[in-house]
Amino acid sequence: MGATLETAAWEKTGEDKRRAVRAMFAEIADHYDIVNGLVSFQLHQAWRKAAVTAIGLDLGEKVLDVCCGTGDFCEAAAACVGSEGQVVGVDFCAPMLRQAARKVGGRARLGLADAMRLPFASRSFDAVTVGWGLRNVPDPQAALREIARVLRPGGRFVSVDMARPTTPVIGPVAEAACHMAVPFVGRLFGHDEAYTYLPKSAYKFMDRDALAAALNAAGIGQVQHQDFMFGNVCMMWGARP
Ligand SMILES: C[S@@+](CC[C@H](N)C(=O)[O-])C[C@H]1O[C@@H](n2cnc3c(N)ncnc32)[C@H](O)[C@@H]1O
Repeated sequence: MGATLETAAWEKTGEDKRRAVRAMFAEIADHYDIVNGLVSFQLHQAWRKAAVTAIGLDLGEKVLDVCCGTGDFCEAAAACVGSEGQVVGVDFCAPMLRQAARKVGGRARLGLADAMRLPFASRSFDAVTVGWGLRNVPDPQAALREIARVLRPGGRFVSVDMARPTTPVIGPVAEAACHMAVPFVGRLFGHDEAYTYLPKSAYKFMDRDALAAALNAAGIGQVQHQDFMFGNVCMMWGARP
């Protein structure tokens, strides 16, 4: 991928950002899982388990995973809801969805859709998950409104995403390490600029208080959060009243 496209993606807004982000994920789809494992020391699967546990995902429930990418959150959700439940994953990037189909095709229904315009009836899901997704959406508030709309009353929502560490001393060191390590690993796979986007976009994304306020504004209450990796990753969850 060209430098102009990737380095600019985190600076763009609106439709320009949408297009740049989709092109970026199309470019890295083949290597996404392996790089994800390396930069998270394989901990991302434990964070997903923590997320589905935090929202108490249960047998028989119907779950939507927004920005599902290669399907890892669908997989974690499918393990909780069992064969009597239902998992639906949506993403706007076809190459990422193709990877997801290989992984969870039999256990999740997958489809192309934008997080800001979910093609589902209101109140149709027991839970919605988003992994490392909201940060990439040009209008996260619009996505959160859509998520709240498709949740049934009492339905739960969880997002796991990059964040900025807040602890003194360790926080800045952890953040600097993340900013160096992630692009370095990406470079090994020829995607240094796409993986520069990751820490840069985390830097620009809402902080914990702003994200909690955005959830509240969308109609998702009882918001709680938990940090991982010294605060470089944050899980935030809540429920629709
Ligand atoms: C960092 S990946 C995360 C994938 C997956 N959720 C995971 O946990 O590994 C972000 C995903 O969000 C998708 N995405 C970004 N903006 C989107 C949007 N507006 N609508 C739908 N999907 C979007 C990208 O295509 C990409 O697959």
